[in-house]
Amino acid sequence: MGHMKRTQEDLDGIVIEALNRTFTKMKFEYIKEEQIIRIGEGAWHTVYKIERLDARDLVIRIKKNKAYGELQPIDEIELTTEYESTKAYYSHVNESNRDVCPTFYQYFIEDDIVFTVETFMGHGTDLLSLHKDEASSYGKQLGRIYHRIHNNKTSMEGFGELDWNGKTLRGSDFNNIDALWQEENNQILIALSTLIHSGLHFDKEKVDTYISSLIENRRTQIQKIALVNQDVTPENLILTGYHIAIIDPFPKLDFDLKYAAYFVFCYKFLLPAFSNAPRYIKHAYEEKSSILNEIADGFISGYFSNVAGDAFTTQTRRLMDEYRLWLLQEAYEHYEILQQPHLYQKTTQQMGNREMITARLNLCLEELEKWCTE
Ligand SMILES: Nc1ncnc2c1ncn2[C@@H]1O[C@H](COP(=O)(O)OP(=O)(O)O)[C@@H](O)[C@H]1O
Ligand SMILES: [Mg+2]
Repeated sequence: MGHMKRTQEDLDGIVIEALNRTFTKMKFEYIKEEQIIRIGEGAWHTVYKIERLDARDLVIRIKKNKAYGELQPIDEIELTTEYESTKAYYSHVNESNRDVCPTFYQYFIEDDIVFTVETFMGHGTDLLSLHKDEASSYGKQLGRIYHRIHNNKTSMEGFGELDWNGKTLRGSDFNNIDALWQEENNQILIALSTLIHSGLHFDKEKVDTYISSLIENRRTQIQKIALVNQDVTPENLILTGYHIAIIDPFPKLDFDLKYAAYFVFCYKFLLPAFSNAPRYIKHAYEEKSSILNEIADGFISGYFSNVAGDAFTTQTRRLMDEYRLWLLQEAYEHYEILQQPHLYQKTTQQMGNREMITARLNLCLEELEKWCTE
């Protein structure tokens, strides 16, 4: 027959055939084409809802062949790591937050198709349609949820990005926690020193003084290792009425307060700042920046809702110190990328062209300067 080009219809046929092959194995009912509705798409998966009469609706996430314009080969270890991490995160979250993540989750890595099957968590509300106080209330609930996630002790060993060894997931770094903490503080000082000694224009003395003393103080305040999420963008949150769902996480083992601050950093700064990059343009985060900011402020009050008075003030200040460090880190990464002679397509998709990266670097530095004043 040779290699005929597949049409969209053929592809759907192949998809349905593969799904039914799997569903038969899982002892689910046979799915008819009309039960499958395409509901969304991220950078990596095309997502379909499967409506069922006798049970909760499911979602099928089919891995795209291409992401960021590049062909994605099937790498079994890599895919298993990704999907096992999601599975572990979902069950970790549900231990302390009932029904926040899909309760059903399975993945399939086959020769012709890679996909996950999970509980359908609802159709989310668009952020733009939220009122100020709704946004703040969702933020507060999220803060409480993340606080419980961070405080639920994980049985996973190690630190850093997760690795699948064929049996279990573990962090990829096995240094002791004190060494990891000091190493991280050293790395921040290296980033600081690089920016201070660069040709960039910003109030170097002010930033240097502020961050150096912040780090000196931080060294004595070691944080707890928790299972954290590196992908907290609004597309991975489903807000419906009073319920919040978290989907599509990118978990790792890292410090708890640092990642609480990462959420705040994303919603206050990163999402609006990246809204001009090709990858994010369609989400129009810039337009939503005041709503994102409400969510971030709500998050802080929810995350520390177990403390009051002076303790609340101290904790919030520590979180905002972590926010400053994320700004510094972001500025450093932008600076480093601009030092390279060539930008990869994935980089320009995610960060924009040289001009945009330069503009965002300056924005980071301005914001950092502002936060190094008080
Ligand atoms: N379990 C689910 N329940 C409801 N909607 C979902 C679910 N999983 C994915 N979606 C929808 O599909 C979109 C893309 O899915 P996602 O898993 O984030 O893809 P990607 O891995 O490419 O980022 C989500 O933003 C959401 O709207
Ligand atoms: Mg996603």
